[in-house]
Amino acid sequence: MVNAMENAYILCISIAHTKGKKGEILMRKLLATSLIAALALSVVGCSQSGGSQPSSSGGGAAGGTPSIGVAIYKFDDTFMTGVRNAISKAAEGKAQVDIVDSQNAQPTQNDKVDLFINKKVSALAINPVDRTAAGVIIDKAKQANIPVVFFNREPMPEDMTKWDKVYYVGAKAEESGTISGQLLVDYWKANPDADKNKDGVLQYVMLKGEPGHQDAELRTKFSVKAIEDAGIKVEKVAEDTAMWDRVKGQEKMAAFLAASGDKIEAVLANNDDMALGAIEALKASGYFTNGKYMPVVGVDATAPALKELEAGTLLGTVLNDANNQGKATLEIAAVLAKGEVPSKDNTGFEIVDGKYVWVPYKKITKENMDEAK
Ligand code: GAL
Ligand code: CA
Repeated sequence: MVNAMENAYILCISIAHTKGKKGEILMRKLLATSLIAALALSVVGCSQSGGSQPSSSGGGAAGGTPSIGVAIYKFDDTFMTGVRNAISKAAEGKAQVDIVDSQNAQPTQNDKVDLFINKKVSALAINPVDRTAAGVIIDKAKQANIPVVFFNREPMPEDMTKWDKVYYVGAKAEESGTISGQLLVDYWKANPDADKNKDGVLQYVMLKGEPGHQDAELRTKFSVKAIEDAGIKVEKVAEDTAMWDRVKGQEKMAAFLAASGDKIEAVLANNDDMALGAIEALKASGYFTNGKYMPVVGVDATAPALKELEAGTLLGTVLNDANNQGKATLEIAAVLAKGEVPSKDNTGFEIVDGKYVWVPYKKITKENMDEAK
């Protein structure tokens, strides 16, 4: 290689000496080509001498870019679509991600995980369909020595301790519950007319997410607790699950209205999609026109929810930070894929108890909605 460059150099000098300006141009061209050739040679040389080292975390890191197998519980979920996009974006230039749809079926997800393991990906990032199934996934991953980052659906604590290469990225569900309750407290205190039947009690309906999901259970519990903690008496008029879904939210709200009509003074929804469904049903019952109003709160701060916030139909929501949850998931998986231990230094995210990343929630109203965009 050195000889090739020396020869090119000597050739260049002689051309430059003999042919003036034309020679100079020719020399530059030659020099550039020989440099490219030299670089190409050195790349080949390097990869021949040290490029076949096995990855410490199960292989698959072909060409130095780690491969990460990502499974989402289902693609047809507004908030998870945001997380999915954030993962893809964070992966640019860092990792090769293969993102698959588990179609809301745990057996399907298990098959996808098996495929990833057979392909020898360097790390897994899993959004479980059923969070109690995480243990089985951990067992498989551990056997293949492929680290796993769970996200959005929190595995049971006993499963999290099964192996040290298991992480979780999420948000504290109780925090979002407390904030959504506080949104109603603020409204109740600022608007004496909010107590429609003047009994001093806040009559509410609850649209719950998927039963068993930490966000559904804890948002339900802590939103009501926040209202009671503010010294406001509450009465639950109705509660039902709408499975995070907009259409189901609309159907359940229509049923609540048909059964309890004017008794309802507020709507608490565990996420924005269900809140938006409730708003549709309320509109169909004459709300949000001619001064007929119903406070509705959600969680997530999705783009369509921010539109309703702006229009004044949604009272408030809680920012569930899809961008940072997706980014943290990817960063941690990429570090693990390299066989390193994730830390604040190499991921940019604080790791709590050696395995958890908690992305904070934020209260969003019309006043600060720009912060959610
Ligand atoms: C929640 C989110 C819901 C839904 C769910 C899926 O955090 O608020 O809208 O996306 O995750 O697991
Ligand atoms: Ca009342």
